[in-house]
Amino acid sequence: MARPKIALIGAGQIGGTLAHLVALKELGDVVLFDIAEGTPQGKALDIAQSGPVEGFDASLTGTNAYADLKGADVCIVTAGVPRKPGMSRDDLLGINLKVMKAVGEGIKANCPDAFVICITNPLDAMVWALREFSGLPHNKVVGMAGVLDSARFRHFLSLEFNVSMKDVTAFVLGGHGDTMVPSVRYSTVGGIPLPDLVAMGWTTQAKLDAIVQRTRDGGAEIVGLLKTGSAFYAPAASAVEMAEAYLKDQKRLLPCAAHVKGAYGLDGLYVGVPVILGADGVERVVEVKLDATEKAMFDKSVDAVKGLVAACKGIDPSLA
Ligand code: APR
Repeated sequence: MARPKIALIGAGQIGGTLAHLVALKELGDVVLFDIAEGTPQGKALDIAQSGPVEGFDASLTGTNAYADLKGADVCIVTAGVPRKPGMSRDDLLGINLKVMKAVGEGIKANCPDAFVICITNPLDAMVWALREFSGLPHNKVVGMAGVLDSARFRHFLSLEFNVSMKDVTAFVLGGHGDTMVPSVRYSTVGGIPLPDLVAMGWTTQAKLDAIVQRTRDGGAEIVGLLKTGSAFYAPAASAVEMAEAYLKDQKRLLPCAAHVKGAYGLDGLYVGVPVILGADGVERVVEVKLDATEKAMFDKSVDAVKGLVAACKGIDPSLA
């Protein structure tokens, strides 16, 4: 059986890291695509030359032609521009919307059967626009945000409790922005919910609140440190986890920016919710019970996403 074909659209910081991880994990053959001439070709060659040392079997090629995406099983989209210090994800809207149009049309023409994972920011609006431009079924187009946001939350919690990150599960809902909702009730250490750990004296509510805020600001903290771009190692690892869930039909329950129609009182909006990822893409949206505070935070986040979608429609009338 042929190896799966994984198209990485955007060969920048995240795209290059994705290619490296996909090869190391032998998830399939990689086609790196970018509009910048030489960049995808150079990165593909460099990673391919690490193959004899690492011992992986995967072919890596770079291209500037959409036709080379033909037959891709998975597309991971990072094309666009990242944030600079002082910019919010929303500031990227106008530029990256045009990129989503080109990429969506390229996917539609060349690999309409692919499972598409969007990473480009502002995420919830860009994954919506990419779905609109590509015309793919909603279950086959998903955004990567919740896996990254919950990984950040898990990392901070493991530091606070001095326990292995493996034993920390975390749950993040809502849009990938300042209004995201890291859920304390649904996050655990070895199955013990965080509020119980406060009651057990492992931490204080004030420290937990600070960790929640640091999670919300997790991307900006890295932008501030790097000064020339945004995070790429953890975003790439998060998207690869989602691609693997699809390719291996793992039925993972992961927080993703998925199309929600019916659940959570929504009528067809892309926003971060827990979903089951398997061979059919998003196989199920999992609707958890939110308490009044969580619901208020989730609604605020939904409103922010709706505002971005409306702004997209204002910029590109074909989306209205
Ligand atoms: N088609 C294909 N590639 C494009 C296009 C386009 N129309 N426009 C830009 N690109 C490419 C750039 O040439 C660049 O190589 O997208 C790549 C983006 O890479 P980086 O600038 O290194 O950005 P990166 O850190 O990878 O982040 C990409 O993901 O997390 C988000 O906010 C982030 O939106 C940003 C995206």
